[in-house]
Amino acid sequence: MSKLDASRPTTETGRQYHIDCAKGDMPRYVLLPGDPFRVPVIGETWDSYREVAHHREYRTARGMYGDAELGACSTGIGGPSTEIAVNELAAIGCDTMLRVGTTGALPAHIRCGDMIITSGSYRMDGTSDRYVDRGYPAVADYEVVMALMTACERLGVTYHVGVTASVGSFYAGQARPSFDDYLTSDKKHLIEDLMMARVTNFEMESGTLLTLAGLFGLRAGAVCAVIANRTTNEWHLGDSEKQVARVGTEALGILAEWDRRKNVQNRTHLLPSLLSASR
Ligand code: URA
Repeated sequence: MSKLDASRPTTETGRQYHIDCAKGDMPRYVLLPGDPFRVPVIGETWDSYREVAHHREYRTARGMYGDAELGACSTGIGGPSTEIAVNELAAIGCDTMLRVGTTGALPAHIRCGDMIITSGSYRMDGTSDRYVDRGYPAVADYEVVMALMTACERLGVTYHVGVTASVGSFYAGQARPSFDDYLTSDKKHLIEDLMMARVTNFEMESGTLLTLAGLFGLRAGAVCAVIANRTTNEWHLGDSEKQVARVGTEALGILAEWDRRKNVQNRTHLLPSLLSASR
C-alpha cells in the first residue's frame, strides 16, 4: 500500500479524495451546479452523457455538446464544499468553471425565471476569507460573462448582469427571519443597503468560486436562475433548473469555440476582432 499524504488527500488509487476523480476523468470545461440531482438535468442538454463518480455531495459527469467536451460537478451548498470542488477539479486539470445555480433577486423588476449573470461577487461568504483578505476582488472572467450573455441572447432568455452578494448563510445572512423569527437589527436594512449599492442578487457559492479562480489562475463565472424576489416576495421554481442548465451548456460550447479561434489566431485573449474574423 502506498503512503498517503494528509496534506494532499487522495484515495488509495490516487483519486482526489472528495470528488473521487483523477486526471483524465474530467474535461477542462466544467459546469458547477450546487445540487447533485441537477447533474443529470444538465446532461439532458448534452448530446451524450456519462456519469463519472458520485461521492457525498460531489456528483461528476461528462459528455459532448456539439464539438465540445463538457463536464459537470455538483458542489453542494455554500463556500466550504465549493472550495473542495474547485481545488480538486483544478488538481485534475479543469481550468474553466461555470457555476449554474439559483438565486434571490433584489430589485423588483427582476422576475422569477430570469437569469442573473454575475460580473463580480461581494464576498460575504467566509470561506474565501481563509485564502485572502477582502480587498481581493471576486471577479468573473470577462470571456465567461460574454459567453453567458451570448448564450442567453441565442436562447431568447431574459438576463441581467450585475454584482452578486455571495453569502455564507441562506437565512439570517440573507435577511430572512430564521427560527423563532430570529433576525438582528443590522439585517433589517441589509436588502435596501445592498440595493443602494446596486447589488442584484443573493446566492451562496460565487464568492468562493471567483476568489479561488483568481488566486489559482482559472477561468470562472456564474449564472443563476431567479427563483425568489426579495422585494416583491415572489418565490417560484418553475423550470429554472432546466433553463440555467441550457444557458450554462450553451455558454461552455461558445467558450470552446472561442478558444479554438484563439488557438488558430495564436491569441491568449478574446478580442472583438476575433469574433468577427471568418473561421
Ligand atoms: N439561493 C439563495 O442563496 N438565495 C435565494 O433567495 C434563492 C436561492
